[in-house]
Parts: sequence; structure tokens; C-alpha cells
Amino acid sequence: MAGLSRQLAQTSLPFTLLLALGLSLMLSISPGAAGETKVHQQQLGKLLFADVRLSTNSRYSCASCHQPDNYFIDAQTVAIGALGDKLQRNTPTLLNASLQASFGWTDDGVTDLATQHQQPLLNSNPIELGFNPTQSALLDQDKELRQLRQRAFPASTTFNVTLVSQALAAYVATLRYTSGFDRYLLEDDAHGLTAQAKRGLALFVSERTQCVACHNGPLLGGGYRADGKALLSARYEQRKVSEGTLAIRVPSLRAVGYTAPYMIDGRLPDLPSVLAFYQSGEVSELPSFSLSPQESEDLLAFLRQL
Ligand code: HEC
Ligand code: HEC
Repeated sequence: MAGLSRQLAQTSLPFTLLLALGLSLMLSISPGAAGETKVHQQQLGKLLFADVRLSTNSRYSCASCHQPDNYFIDAQTVAIGALGDKLQRNTPTLLNASLQASFGWTDDGVTDLATQHQQPLLNSNPIELGFNPTQSALLDQDKELRQLRQRAFPASTTFNVTLVSQALAAYVATLRYTSGFDRYLLEDDAHGLTAQAKRGLALFVSERTQCVACHNGPLLGGGYRADGKALLSARYEQRKVSEGTLAIRVPSLRAVGYTAPYMIDGRLPDLPSVLAFYQSGEVSELPSFSLSPQESEDLLAFLRQL
């Protein structure tokens, strides 16, 4: 708690807001030491993640949408499946994804990674990867992959969707991102938040903007689901009208400076547009406020150090 009192002295943020922000440090939530079998599962999962044999036309993999050298996103408004069909939603980053209470933009029922992975493998409307038994057979023909499978899952006799999902989950659970914000909370001043980002943090937790009311906890989002309808653009609402009210997960803001475009349908191209949206008065349920140009820069600096 020494760190906390120091932060309070430095930033003079209200105590309850700092608590709401979530003091858990990403750096301390490391994946933990893995046993030998687990390490083999992670290795197999990493290979499968980028393996185009997971897709029906052998041209697409998890890494086509969650690109490892691009913060595990595709930078498209909405994702595009293996056969060129548009999905309805923006591709989220997988960095720190295993810390989410549930997976996906709207489905709070999917609470383990392996179950989530079956969606992109098997979804057919539209097809994301189109995994089917032919793909399992292709994987089994690969001697190296077969040997790794036997080390990772000693009781297994063949590749199948369950085993592939479990290996992928072992890998996805290792994906972590730590930032200036984590180092700030760890009192590493030299590598923590800049002075400008600290001013942005004060705005983020202020009564005026109330960002922290929804974006809180270690991911600055995730656990809490607002009534999604409130934040949806009219366009998206129209498309979804047949589904009724849609609860949207408050997105994680970790690495958010690198994961444009934004929102469930990727409708906002950059962070200044997101701030403009929050000040637009478009959504009556949100607090009404406007930021000076300097304040906007400060808040952006904070978001970019998350
Ligand atoms: C066609 C692009 C595409 C492919 C291929 C794809 N994903 Fe995704 N992924 C998405 C989209 C879009 C979402 C959001 C889905 C939703 O909420 O409806 C998502 C969500 C996720 C999530 C949930 C993240 C969170 O924060 O809740 C995980 C985990 C994930 N994908 C892992 C994978 C794995 C593993 C594979 C390979 C088997 C894969 N994805 C293949 C586009 C893709
Ligand atoms: C009422 C709850 C709520 C409040 C208050 C709130 N947000 Fe959000 N935020 C959300 C939800 C829900 C979404 C996803 C909306 C969508 O996809 O249409 C979102 C999306 C975002 C995104 C885009 C993330 C991504 O990966 O697409 C950013 C950035 C963001 N909010 C920052 C802020 C900031 C900064 C504030 C304060 C000015 C704020 N939010 C206030 C609930 C909230």
C-alpha cells in the first residue's frame, strides 16, 4: 500500500476512484511457471495459431486476423473470413485476453478460451476458418506436428477440434502486454507515465468524464457490460434491431493506442474520434463534457500509454 499512498500524494486522486481503477498490476499477473506438458501445448498452440491448414482453403489462420506483429489485430473495421465474407465485428487484440471474465464483444456465456476458439474454427455464418475433418487429417500427415502433439497430449491419437482448441488456448493464455501504466503503478518513474499522461489519468478518473465508471479493473474494461445500445451508432442499431437490446462488453483499453479502428463495428478510425464521440452528446446516458485541446492531448497521451 506504500505505492498507493505515494500515488495519492502525487496525483491527489480520490481514493475510491483509484480503487475503482483497479490496482492490480499486469506485471504481477504473469502466466506462471508451466510444467513440461504445458510447455509442449503452448509450443503446439503457437504453431497451430499461424497454420493455414486450420482453414478450409488452406489460406487462412488465426494469425490472418489476429496478426502477431500487429498487436494481434487486423486493423480492419470488421473482420474478413477465409472465404472473403465480412463478419459483423471488429477483431479484438489477444494481448491480455486470457484475463477477460468472458470472451467476445457481446457473449458473456463464453468463459474459457478453448470454448471460444471453437467459434472461429467452426462458425459457418459466415465462415471464419471452416475447420473440418480434412484439416485434422492434413495436420496428422505432418510428422513434426504429430510428434509435438504426442508430447503435448500423450493420450491423443489424432488431431481434432477439441485438441486443437486446447493447444491454442495454452498459447493464447501466454499473450501478455505490459505498459508504461503498469510501470507507473510499480513506481518505476523512469519508465512509467509521462507528466502529460498523468494529467490524462486525472481526467480519466474525474467526475467530469467518468471514463473509469465503465473502464476499470486491470484491463480498464472487460468485467462490466453496459447496455450496449446506449453507445451504438444509429447505423449499427438498425442492423441489429432484430436481435433486440445488445449488451456490449466494455472493451479493454490495454494497448488501445495500437488497436485502431475502434468500437464493436470499427466505426471510429482513431482515438481523437473516440474522444469526439464521447463529447458529441450523441448518447444521452453519458456525462456531458467538453475538453480543451490541451486536455484532449493529455487524455490521448494517457490512453496511448496503456
Ligand atoms: C476472420 C477473422 C478471425 C479469425 C480467423 C479468428 N478470429 Fe478471433 N476474433 C475475431 C473477431 C471478429 C472476434 C470478436 C468476436 C465477437 O465478439 O463476436 C474475435 C475474438 C476472439 C477472442 C476473444 C477475445 C476477447 O477479448 O474476448 C479470442 C480469444 C480469439 N478471437 C482467438 C482466436 C483464435 C485462437 C483463432 C484461431 C482458431 C481466431 N481467433 C481466429 C476475428 C477472427
Ligand atoms: C457507460 C460506460 C462507458 C463510459 C462512461 C465510457 N466508456 Fe468507453 N466504451 C464503453 C463501451 C460499451 C464501448 C464499446 C462501444 C461500442 O463498441 O459501440 C467503449 C469503447 C471505448 C473505446 C474503444 C475501444 C476499442 O478497442 O474499440 C475507447 C478508446 C474508450 N471507450 C475510451 C473511453 C474514454 C476515454 C471514456 C471517458 C471519456 C469512456 N470510454 C467512457 C463504455 C464506456
